[in-house]
Amino acid sequence: MKEELAKIVQDALSEAKKAGTLAEMNDVRVKFLGKNGAMTAVLKQLNNVPKEQKPEMGKLVNSAREQIESAFIGKEKALREAELNARLMSERIDVTLPSSDKRTIGALHPLTIIKNEIIDIFTTFGFSVAEGPEVELDYYNFQLLNIPKDHPARDMADTFYVDENTVLRTHTSPMQARIMTTTPPPIRVLVPGKVYRSDDDASHSPIFNQIEGLCVDKKITLGDLKGVLTAFVEKLFSRNTKVRFRPSYFPFTEPSVEVDVTCTICGGKGCRVCKGTGFLEILGSGIVNPKVLELCGLDPSEYSGFAFGFGIERIAMLKFGIPHIKMLYENDVRFLKQFR
Ligand code: PHE
Repeated sequence: MKEELAKIVQDALSEAKKAGTLAEMNDVRVKFLGKNGAMTAVLKQLNNVPKEQKPEMGKLVNSAREQIESAFIGKEKALREAELNARLMSERIDVTLPSSDKRTIGALHPLTIIKNEIIDIFTTFGFSVAEGPEVELDYYNFQLLNIPKDHPARDMADTFYVDENTVLRTHTSPMQARIMTTTPPPIRVLVPGKVYRSDDDASHSPIFNQIEGLCVDKKITLGDLKGVLTAFVEKLFSRNTKVRFRPSYFPFTEPSVEVDVTCTICGGKGCRVCKGTGFLEILGSGIVNPKVLELCGLDPSEYSGFAFGFGIERIAMLKFGIPHIKMLYENDVRFLKQFR
């Protein structure tokens, strides 16, 4: 039994020495110290040893066990450390490496930039912002705006009809009617949104964006309209931009005025873009037609108002010098990047 113990210790130590991983070491541990291991088998033999030899043999078995256990613990500790070091090495991050994925930061679309700028200006004038439906009733798009079914002004807009009584709105003006029929004055509101017309060339697109403005209160005059729009144009372009008010016609305003600004390309000297006039038309406006007030349920002897509307694309093209309207819809990043 003594020799057997010595042999087990020798084998255990040499196998522990050979183990290269914690998993292998675990197998060695089971083989020698496990429930069905070599040491357990020796321990069972102790029952057959004569009584007087038992204490001595017991001591031998214990010391063999301790020898093996301490060798195993030492080896396991060394293996654990080696494995941890290997993992740390493999997971090491070189913080000095140049980064490989440079992310580009997004930017607002030029139309959004202009729209926000315009909203900012009018909110300082006390206007709030509202939005309305793009699929609109003929009733709001035309009829309440003093354009009855057989009115010649219907030819002014190339309308997309959804059915006999429904259109894709041709302007944001139907929101004038929607607001006046539901909101008691004073009204000061700005309405941005998409509008639709069967029209397609370098400066027109079948879908484009407009901004409508409406102010209704007691004693509103053409002077208020001129003051507000002049202040707006000076803030949007520059202080020395000249504004010109020209008589015009819209069924829903009376009188109607078109607003021109000094040409952003030649500064008023006259060039190809302004066709030699030095001015560019930017918006339509006027005093809300008393007929429209009446149709919307407001008393024209008590209230008056002004309204205006313009295309955001046109303003963006003038401000940024964009030659073709389609550039605003193609989403070519090389183009869009320039507005960041
Ligand atoms: N709705 C007109 C257009 O689309 C613009 C306009 C708005 C004119 C409000 C007068 C008053 O051209």
